[in-house]
Amino acid sequence: MTRDRSPIPGSPERYSSIYSRAQSEAELLVEREVYGANVGVRGYTTIAQADALAARLDLRQGMRLLDIGAGRGWPGLYLAQKSGCEAVLTDLPPAAPRSALARARRQRLDGRCSFVVASATHLPFRPQTFDAVVHTDTL
Ligand SMILES: C[S@@+](CC[C@H](N)C(=O)[O-])C[C@H]1O[C@@H](n2cnc3c(N)ncnc32)[C@H](O)[C@@H]1O
Repeated sequence: MTRDRSPIPGSPERYSSIYSRAQSEAELLVEREVYGANVGVRGYTTIAQADALAARLDLRQGMRLLDIGAGRGWPGLYLAQKSGCEAVLTDLPPAAPRSALARARRQRLDGRCSFVVASATHLPFRPQTFDAVVHTDTL
């Protein structure tokens, strides 16, 4: 019997391997079919739900948003683009912020968005740094 050595689903190693490679054409197609656009989703939160978050948090220019466990940048980048706010995106495996930064550059959001490798359990920010915090399918 051979032992399955693939990373445990949901583990940082698993996410690291996912975020280290580009999405395949099939994945992009599925994302468009299910979510309506290619926004870098790696969970279950839809665009309509992200829009509801933006409205509930009253996100706008001048605000600073923290997205915990943002993966490829969802929904932090989308919310920054939609609302004009600044966003700081965090995740554990370094491949996640790398992928999110590449997406931000393509969308010309890198001037307003920054990326930090950090665990949700030990966030390296002072109190009152953010006006709003989101996490989608992270905790
Ligand atoms: C299901 S994915 C969701 C990613 C993104 N928020 C989305 O909705 O597409 C869960 C994310 O949580 C991250 N994560 C898991 N444990 C974490 C922790 N302790 N601190 C920060 N991020 C964590 C994973 O690396 C992964 O990117």
